[in-house]
Amino acid sequence: MPYIRETILTTADAEGRVHIAPLGIIAEGGDWVVAPFRPSKTLDNLAATGIAVANLTDDPLIFAGCLTGRKDWPLVAIEGSPVPRLAAALSHDVLVVESVAEDEIRPRFRCRVSTSGQHAPFTGMNRARAAIVEAAILVSRLHMLPAEKIEAEIAYLNIAIEKTAGDAERQAWYWLMERVIAHLASLEA
Ligand SMILES: Cc1cc2nc3c(=O)[nH]c(=O)nc-3n(C[C@H](O)[C@H](O)[C@H](O)COP(=O)(O)O)c2cc1C
Repeated sequence: MPYIRETILTTADAEGRVHIAPLGIIAEGGDWVVAPFRPSKTLDNLAATGIAVANLTDDPLIFAGCLTGRKDWPLVAIEGSPVPRLAAALSHDVLVVESVAEDEIRPRFRCRVSTSGQHAPFTGMNRARAAIVEAAILVSRLHMLPAEKIEAEIAYLNIAIEKTAGDAERQAWYWLMERVIAHLASLEA
């Protein structure tokens, strides 16, 4: 399996309206492959403009927020790029689409890094933050998973939250758990 880096991608449509979404970008040679499932605004924007910004951030609120309808995060313009970065990005890469492998389910946009920037120091690993990324992915796949698997994964991830979370991680967990609980309740109804 290839190396995958979990990012927040910023893209823009032809009118410059910005879209923010978590996506894992896949290492391929010195390039990165962006592979959005259809339908997706990120996919539409990539097809329209051929540019995305990979924001490297460990902010748990942005990962959890984007999966729970909170998509409005502060942006900063990048010189020479039509697409801005997140203000919370520790660093960013501007990705330019080189080629597209079309697919009915999940097209692959192979991208070259055109420019990069560093903005803030990385302050170290944290288990609760890692758990938030896992739980956000779980929330994006709730409709594909049986209830027992969801409950088992949440029980495991909750250990890291209980032991190592700060305020931001607890807030992010709360947003995600609202979604999980509503989904599980809908299965029982
Ligand atoms: C860490 C993380 C990685 C993700 N990676 C992908 C991905 O590679 N492809 C994808 O289609 N969705 C991925 N998702 C789910 C998308 O963020 C989510 O479905 C989003 O709404 C994409 O659709 P949009 O571009 O219309 O917003 C990921 C979610 C998380 C939390």
